[in-house]
Amino acid sequence: MMRVVLIRSCLVQPAEPTWNGPMPLTEFDQTGSLSHIPTTYIYRPSGTWLTQKDAIFTTLKTSLSRILVHFYPLAGRLRCLDGARFLLECNGKGVQLIQAEADADLDILGDFTPSPHFYHLIPPINYQAPIEETPLVIVQLTKFKCGGIALNFSISHAVADGQSALHFITEWANLARGDSLRNPPFLDRKLLRARDRPPSAQVPCFVHEQFDPPPLVIGHPNCENERKKETTVAMLKLTKIQVEMLKNEANRTRPLNELGDRGFTRYEVIAAHIWRCACRARGHLYEQRTGLGVCLDIRNRVQPPLPEKYFGNGIIDVVATGLSGDLVTRPSSYAASRIREAINRVSSEFVYSTLDHLKNLKDFSGLQDIYDVKTNQGPFYGNPNLGVVSWLALPLYGTDFGWGKEIFMGPGNHDCDGDSLILPGRDGDGSIVVALCLQAACMEDFQKFFYQDFRN
Ligand code: COA
Repeated sequence: MMRVVLIRSCLVQPAEPTWNGPMPLTEFDQTGSLSHIPTTYIYRPSGTWLTQKDAIFTTLKTSLSRILVHFYPLAGRLRCLDGARFLLECNGKGVQLIQAEADADLDILGDFTPSPHFYHLIPPINYQAPIEETPLVIVQLTKFKCGGIALNFSISHAVADGQSALHFITEWANLARGDSLRNPPFLDRKLLRARDRPPSAQVPCFVHEQFDPPPLVIGHPNCENERKKETTVAMLKLTKIQVEMLKNEANRTRPLNELGDRGFTRYEVIAAHIWRCACRARGHLYEQRTGLGVCLDIRNRVQPPLPEKYFGNGIIDVVATGLSGDLVTRPSSYAASRIREAINRVSSEFVYSTLDHLKNLKDFSGLQDIYDVKTNQGPFYGNPNLGVVSWLALPLYGTDFGWGKEIFMGPGNHDCDGDSLILPGRDGDGSIVVALCLQAACMEDFQKFFYQDFRN
């Protein structure tokens, strides 16, 4: 087993004075995951980067303090208010930067399929400590014996969604490389605050069933049992041809009149495939209700659209539901249609109605994942449910801090049953990678079902 030891840790503050004061968070910032979301980048620096002792750490530290001048909310801290609501205190306290050393070569990570080694690359975060003291961004640089490095960015989801987190990392890399800032973040969150009007004046009226508790396994009074089960992670590749096969199959049987002319997208058919395979692998009864959570970027769905570089949580979750038996036995277009229907519900009015709905809730605590999901916080999207998040349109690859582009980028860890991500393949060849966590007992069957249709 690889050992990783801490070399040093410091708080990095903005290089110039920045605005100080309380920044209200939106309802979307405070519902869903409030934990830090880790992403890991692996590099093989060469040339002078290898020989100069602290060059990488120093470059990161200097450029971080400069980028925080523009992204200063990330240097602040959360403050807890009533009803499990939070405020963002912009106080420039800083971002934590850690340097660590591994007693192994990069080869120990093999082909970068998630393994327990990755846990050593992610800084542990103590969520029992007062939230006012926890940095919103924690970065760990880990040096390997061979000169390779891992950079892990753990960024609070209360302050930035995937789009915003990657915007920050990309701009930081630009400054570290000696370039200038390309696109400043749009920091004013008022655009996404609930409208100040009485609930009775809200027209049209939407049902916000995305906040209902997700379905349970038939015969189980709650999800406690399922939460405790051992899980495992797999990275499953689909070639461009396999993705086309999924599309063709779903489009062949598509109910045209209900869904318009537009064929199913890659996301819709891949998420449908994951959903159907999971239902089979989990051995559900025909009548088992199951939900598939879809995370939508609403920046271009609201009218007027949000500024392109809106910094915060410009996302909303909706849930597609169905009976496992229907999903498995009907053509794949059925599952894909259920997913499209859920996505199509998200109009501009729906988004603002969701904000109003959340604003009128007294207490957010039932909607939040603050701690490790396994400690029973928040809604459970494990068996019989799934969450399928698309990273297809995110700027994932080519993040060069000055020592070349990463050789790998991926989710730092994701170990909650039902948690899945769809990523583009690294080679730009149209392939797709599905990063999926499932109960260990179901994974073998899942993989069998996932690939079996392509063999016929
Ligand atoms: N680059 C290239 N093509 C793009 C694109 C981009 N940035 N954005 C859209 N397209 C094209 C694609 O061709 C796609 O069809 P294809 O995948 O079959 O080729 C088509 O437009 C439709 O894309 P989109 O409107 O995004 O629909 P979708 O079905 O692919 O995805 C959602 C649905 C809800 C997942 C997606 O709209 C979304 O919101 N994604 C963001 C999720 C997110 O924020 N993730 C991070 C969470 S922290």
